[in-house]
Amino acid sequence: MPTANSEMSDPAKNSRQRIPVACLLVLAAFNPAAAAPAILEACKSCHAEDGAGVGKTIVPVIAGMPAVHIEEALYAYKDGARQCLEEPVMCDTAVLLTDENIADLAAHYAAIPRPSLDETVDDALVALGEPVHRRLCARCHLPPDDPDVADVLGPPLHGQRADYLRYALESYLSGTRENLLDEMKEKISLLDEGDIEALANYYGSY
Ligand code: HEC
Ligand code: HEC
Repeated sequence: MPTANSEMSDPAKNSRQRIPVACLLVLAAFNPAAAAPAILEACKSCHAEDGAGVGKTIVPVIAGMPAVHIEEALYAYKDGARQCLEEPVMCDTAVLLTDENIADLAAHYAAIPRPSLDETVDDALVALGEPVHRRLCARCHLPPDDPDVADVLGPPLHGQRADYLRYALESYLSGTRENLLDEMKEKISLLDEGDIEALANYYGSY
């Protein structure tokens, strides 16, 4: 009887070496008619089943993100409008998702309340960040438990990991991630390094 190991060693030699073999096998075996949990196997190694993430650098928390924003992000990766600069596997996975997968995954992660992070925050920076948020960002970025969170333009940032927020803001500011809205581009261009740290601490204190 062939062992699983001998079968699994071959695909790793092909040109898509960066995609974990397990991930490809899951996608290849996935039946689009099945319910959300099957396709979740393709996400769990980074985002975990609860969307809080397994602690990898720059993997965002996606629990408690309204379904509309999860779908928007997955379609943006799928059609190339949004690039995966540090983690190509994210984009390589998104490309393989069907519309139904995307709807199921968005419903799954949106339904899970966003957890509090166990990151340590600096109280002085939290206090500096809050007014910056209120002045420039609150119109489009509400906390995940706000009743209007799905109706505003941007995804919730409260409870997002600091390393991901820094990475995302730096990507917008350097032009490697496209701003969908001129108004956000204008607002984040007003931030200096100190504001970014203050905001990362403020959002992390949620
Ligand atoms: C190998 C790790 C990895 C895997 C597997 C993975 N992701 Fe991601 N995911 C990331 C990283 C890293 C980012 C940030 C990428 C960027 O924008 O540069 C991300 C971003 C996202 C975002 C955007 C979040 C936001 O705040 O804008 C969503 C939604 C998402 N992933 C959902 C999924 C789903 C659903 C799956 C399974 C089909 C999946 N991911 C598989 C690592 C992964
Ligand atoms: C006019 C509405 C608007 C304003 C004001 C705004 N944003 Fe956004 N923001 C968005 C939208 C829409 C997105 C998602 C689409 C995109 O990438 O452009 C987003 C995405 C983000 C992301 C990436 C989130 C993720 O999960 O990947 C960060 C970080 C962010 N905004 C920070 C800020 C900060 C900080 C401010 C205030 C200085 C701000 N935004 C002001 C609309 C806005």
